[in-house]
Amino acid sequence: MIPVAGFGTRLLPATKSQPKEMLPVARKPIVQYVVEELVSNGVQQILFVTGRNKTSIENHFDHDPELVRTLAEGHKEDLLKELDFEALKAKFFYTRQRMQKGLGDAVLCAESFAGEKPFVVALGDSILGLNALSRAVARMADVFDARRASCVIAVEEVPPEETRHYGIVQPADGAGDVFRIANLVEKPDPSNAPSNLAIAGRYIFSPVIFDMIRRVRPDRRGEIQLTDAIQLLCEEGRRVVAVKLTAGEKRYDIGNFPSYFETFVEFALADPAYGAGFRCALERLLAKNAATV
Ligand code: G1P
Repeated sequence: MIPVAGFGTRLLPATKSQPKEMLPVARKPIVQYVVEELVSNGVQQILFVTGRNKTSIENHFDHDPELVRTLAEGHKEDLLKELDFEALKAKFFYTRQRMQKGLGDAVLCAESFAGEKPFVVALGDSILGLNALSRAVARMADVFDARRASCVIAVEEVPPEETRHYGIVQPADGAGDVFRIANLVEKPDPSNAPSNLAIAGRYIFSPVIFDMIRRVRPDRRGEIQLTDAIQLLCEEGRRVVAVKLTAGEKRYDIGNFPSYFETFVEFALADPAYGAGFRCALERLLAKNAATV
């Protein structure tokens, strides 16, 4: 499932009337990268947990016969190819989170969809790896089975001073590429952070998580934190395991402007058709800037 119900307040005014997940990174909206990543990692059914103002996400993954006809009549084969993603082998489902009661509550909206099966949660504002080429979710699924885990979380190292932006995990013993988690805490102050290993926006859960979410008390902003529900799994002695992202699987966070700008530029530079030209333009711009400072 992909939770996409958030207001995107950190990206106002860009997100006033459009979802942050539809903001472009180079040529594609962010959410398209997330879907492509999940599909290439073997996910076949995708539930979006949406909210008001999110219908453009549904439209994006829908077929648009009129557009296709116009492009075909104009012999715009190259542009038609850009719509190939519509043929992705995934089924899309949508449900609404009616009140903004936090990520935990959004995941609870997937309960009847998940049924008795384990499921993936992929945050709609994070892309894993340049052009979403990460294999992390497939690795996490292997770990989930091999360790008979209740939850597997992707984690990445962040600078110690940034722990207050993330859920932070405490390894049970050493922290290799795959390790058991003893505790988790949502957005700790650097002085209280148990490590600098941050939850990186991809999770696999067994359905037992739904009972834990129901037991979580809202935080001081009235939100049900998913991290608190996972902490309850740890307290029950269930296996909660972390999988570290590899160097090539950097997480691109689109939730705030500085990292959105940086992500856009990095993806545009890597564009096979426009990257080289963009690099020259950027170099000119930087040289001009340097000359005027
Ligand atoms: C959420 C999670 C947090 C995680 C982060 C990753 O926070 O609550 O644990 O580290 O996503 O992006 P948010 O960014 O929604 O505040």
